[in-house]
Amino acid sequence: MENNTLLKVNDIHTFIGQFHILQGVSVEIPKGKIVSLLGRNGAGKTTTLKSILGLAPPTQGQVILDGEEIQGRRSYDIANMGIGFVPEHRAIFRDLSVHENLLIAERKKGDLEKKEELIFSLFPDLKRLIKLPGTNLSGGQQQMLAVARALVPDNKLLLIDEPSEGLAPVLIEQMMEAIRQLSAESTVLLVEQNFIVASQLAESYVIIEEGHSVKSGKMVDLAADPETIHRYLEAA
Ligand SMILES: Nc1ncnc2c1ncn2[C@@H]1O[C@H](COP(=O)(O)OP(=O)(O)OP(=O)(O)O)[C@@H](O)[C@H]1O
Ligand SMILES: [Mg+2]
Repeated sequence: MENNTLLKVNDIHTFIGQFHILQGVSVEIPKGKIVSLLGRNGAGKTTTLKSILGLAPPTQGQVILDGEEIQGRRSYDIANMGIGFVPEHRAIFRDLSVHENLLIAERKKGDLEKKEELIFSLFPDLKRLIKLPGTNLSGGQQQMLAVARALVPDNKLLLIDEPSEGLAPVLIEQMMEAIRQLSAESTVLLVEQNFIVASQLAESYVIIEEGHSVKSGKMVDLAADPETIHRYLEAA
């Protein structure tokens, strides 16, 4: 393992109930980079993120964060090692205000105060909406809040699941710009079905198909390889 590797997922297998969902997934994320996890619906992208976090613990293989094996630990402890998670479908607390949503994302008291400036510079809308309940936010604003929540504690790694899903083009642009900026201080594993978004943000990629990682490399090479894109990423 290269010593600039922040996270190494080594040939993991994960079951959900009796189903053998991941059957050999490997991903390597260098410090400070954005790596995109690609693949069709149901390929196992979200399950890979959940496996890293211990929410769907792998039964085989290793998850190595900063040289330390973390598979098998409780997800609470794994998150506390500095992994932020932005789940699919904008999982915010809709009954809570924007401010409360941010506050309960603190890992220790004072986290939010330290990060407010960064968060509001990335997502100026959230500052304006700070007192409103989640229900009053548009889909795009909820997605911004979901990403902002992961920025509240100090995280060395962010796992972001389909941030552009369902967003209007102008909001996709804003989200991309935010991810680009936040990657300056963190490392990102980005699940994306929107290939344009993934290819503009990530330096490298891993493609998952039916629970296996089948291909990985530099994003520039994939972008120039329509055959691979067609084979693994376009609707079958
Ligand atoms: N709770 C569950 N029970 C049974 N099967 C599940 C469960 N969660 C996921 N799966 C199955 O595991 C496989 C991988 O799902 P996963 O959510 O990881 O895919 P994905 O690549 O994130 O897909 P999408 O692009 O639709 O989000 C799918 O076939 C899915 O049906
Ligand atoms: Mg998914």
